[in-house]
Amino acid sequence: MKKIMSVILSAVMTAQVAVNSFAAFDAPKLSESEWNTLYTSSVEDNTLPMLNVGADETQVSLCWHTDKASAQPQVLLSKNIDMSDALVFNGITTPAENDEQLVCRVTVTGLEENTCYYYQWNKGGNEWSDVEKYETKSFGDHKVMVVGDIQISEVTSEGNDSQKSDGLNWNNVLAEALEKNPDISFLVSPGDNTSTGKTEKEWQTLLMPEAVRSLPLALAIGNHDKKGMLYNYYTNMPNEYFGNFFSGLDRDFWFRYGDVLYLFYDSTSGNAPDHMAMTKQAVKENPDAKWRIGVVHHGIYGAGDCIGDTETELLLTTIFAPIFESYDLDFVITGHTHSQGRSHFMENTKVVELAESGKTYTDPKGVVYLNSNSVCGKVIMDYEAEHLAYSFMENDVTTYTTLDFKGDTLTVETRRGDNSQLLDSITIVRTKEHNENSAGNILKRAAYKVVEFVGLVYTLIDNLVRKLG
Ligand SMILES: [Fe+2]
Repeated sequence: MKKIMSVILSAVMTAQVAVNSFAAFDAPKLSESEWNTLYTSSVEDNTLPMLNVGADETQVSLCWHTDKASAQPQVLLSKNIDMSDALVFNGITTPAENDEQLVCRVTVTGLEENTCYYYQWNKGGNEWSDVEKYETKSFGDHKVMVVGDIQISEVTSEGNDSQKSDGLNWNNVLAEALEKNPDISFLVSPGDNTSTGKTEKEWQTLLMPEAVRSLPLALAIGNHDKKGMLYNYYTNMPNEYFGNFFSGLDRDFWFRYGDVLYLFYDSTSGNAPDHMAMTKQAVKENPDAKWRIGVVHHGIYGAGDCIGDTETELLLTTIFAPIFESYDLDFVITGHTHSQGRSHFMENTKVVELAESGKTYTDPKGVVYLNSNSVCGKVIMDYEAEHLAYSFMENDVTTYTTLDFKGDTLTVETRRGDNSQLLDSITIVRTKEHNENSAGNILKRAAYKVVEFVGLVYTLIDNLVRKLG
């Protein structure tokens, strides 16, 4: 009997090991003391890597800091946990924000869908990292996770330790979302990933959760990131577009995944001609993309205070909304105000069709805007506006949103970050092709030339002020 029990137990344990090693994500929720142990052990370092989305679904990239003297921009990739038959990917080094280090940037190509990979990055010379796992998902239909304003705090000289609790919030919303949605392909953040953009510890803390070793990130730039320059050294986004008039940290970028074109805009820049030019180029290179999704930091038709700021509202609706409308974007993700809300279908600053929670809309007019709550630095916002179809009044609770693309259908669901309770959903069915070349849209872009000129003057003055300042 003992022998039989031992065989059964052994079989069960083997099965558990097999299941664990093929779980989509290693993303446990942590207690405060577990997180504090992790945080304390690694916060003084700055060498954790970021796994970034690639130019398409067959690529991802890694970006990490190493000592200048021994930097080797190399990644090993294998389908075997013992790293046998590993492929070697070589990349480049670029200057770091300090004199002692370099930034290694390596793009991994040729990934296959629904495949479990293991990887290591070179930590300098002959030293390799521990083996990490990255599991690709479906390359066609896919699901994306969205969280807003991760905004990891700085550690102040007065001893403010909210960075530690920010990291725990970040870790645990990832864990909750990934446990309930193991089919998530990557994460989108509409900016303000860090609080000051000036301290290495903000990025190191953002990169601490084990989940981000297996979850490619796509991070827009927010006004807080732009207080410093460190976004430049800790991220490696695909197809970065520096245009003719961007300066400093400014850039847009885009990538393709399955049937979806993702367009990321730097809304801290009023550089209208370059925002328009990036959109034109990305659309031209992706004529077959069924869906077009915009990501921009500031809430254009969002929920919260910035809508009450006339100057900001005017800038955003004048510069960005005509680009989104004339290129027929389906959905736009925003953040900044730390409050969760979603608009009706918008066009020319007006509601053109209601977008009620729980309902399905086929080939609607206009664009829906989702404003994301924040992971850290939450505020409670009691806000209502005519353009809002849904707003969450308990914004001290973290939330997350998923965009689920299945053929002609996009389902957007927003859930509580602590228990995944469904708060809001909407389904859009697209059966028609995009119509950016309709007479109305061509006319809209012709009229936009005035905005491009004014936006350019505004940007050049802004660039000059920053240079002098
Ligand atoms: Fe912001």
